[in-house]
Amino acid sequence: MSISIQPAERLKTLPEQFFAALVAKANARAATGADVINLGQGNPDLPTPQRIVEKLKEASDNPLYHKYPPFRGFPFLKEAVARRYKEDYGVELDPATEVAILFGGKTGLIEISQCLLNPGDVCLVPDPGYPDYWSGVALAGAEMAFMPLLEQNGFLPDYEALDAGAIARAKLMFLNYPNNPTAATADRSFYEETVRFARRHGIVVASDFAYGAIGFDGKRPVSFLETPGAKEVGVEFYTLSKTYNMAGWRVGFALGNARIVEMINLIQDHYYCSLFGGIQEAAAEALAGPQDTVSELVRIYERRRDALFEALDAIGWKARKPAGSFFCWLPVPEGYSSMAFADLLLEKADVVVAPGNGFGEHGEGYVRLGLLAPEDRLREAVRRVGELQLFR
Ligand SMILES: Cc1ncc(COP(=O)(O)O)c(C=O)c1O
Repeated sequence: MSISIQPAERLKTLPEQFFAALVAKANARAATGADVINLGQGNPDLPTPQRIVEKLKEASDNPLYHKYPPFRGFPFLKEAVARRYKEDYGVELDPATEVAILFGGKTGLIEISQCLLNPGDVCLVPDPGYPDYWSGVALAGAEMAFMPLLEQNGFLPDYEALDAGAIARAKLMFLNYPNNPTAATADRSFYEETVRFARRHGIVVASDFAYGAIGFDGKRPVSFLETPGAKEVGVEFYTLSKTYNMAGWRVGFALGNARIVEMINLIQDHYYCSLFGGIQEAAAEALAGPQDTVSELVRIYERRRDALFEALDAIGWKARKPAGSFFCWLPVPEGYSSMAFADLLLEKADVVVAPGNGFGEHGEGYVRLGLLAPEDRLREAVRRVGELQLFR
């Protein structure tokens, strides 16, 4: 006799995976043999630099790595990320106390809510924003208050406009620049204002720097940790997924405030026993070795951005050029919702884009395109959209 197996209440609080339906639709279309151009996802299309792959091959022979790794990871990897932050951002980090190794940035973004939030607490979350923040807050049984990211504010939150009651109950806030999905970047003065806001209200800042390496027009994105006082109020999440095309390797870091890093390490002591040692060694090679592949990658994305925008301009689709990340955030034509427009592009042009409302209420009216296909495919996608004659 089978027993009744019921999920715990916790699982029922998880937000719906909005993009799963989109992926299913795109796959169904491709299964018909259609030449679908998928610009809806955020998976880097280029391979990991060869020197990093070679290091993993070599390291996989090391019997030391066939055993359990040390609980909180190998010191050499923490040292390598600390050195990279020093070199790239001038930020000093103590590898022993201010660095936690994560199974990808995503894991840390979920864990920090569990570390800091109790039921009844509020977390300030950007809208539109990366949906994993919502999942972590839901698992912690806490509540979200959204910070609208509006085009007229450069897609930065306006702290003055937030609800005072929500601010009073807030314990944690997420920021993400270069931003997914809006492709906006933040400057030093915004982070200085953020540190003042966090101090005044006792709110921990979680800066998601997943696209930290990808800034265009010669501008390197600013790290939150460069701001005086940042380490006293928060942590930054960094990942190798985008910088080195290592999304499948699952290597990320929480960096900064030692108390928070210790909490993340503590929760991870219970969940995991760190990453495979060979991956840690290859990750250290990524961070410590020559960084020319990173600047080359940024050049590739920038060329793709420019090719895409030239094509958009030619069909009359007016939009703001991305300053960073590998996304483009484009307004939908009048008379369409984000969803209706994304559906139309799939059905009539075989082009997949992500409808903006999947990232939150303030994403309505936009679609997100990833620069994750070669230039000719991006041009072809826009050409097909142009044939629908929607922009003139
Ligand atoms: C804004 C943002 N943060 C974090 C991540 C997570 O990256 P990973 O878990 O691969 O480190 C992503 C991945 O797409 C992202 O877009």
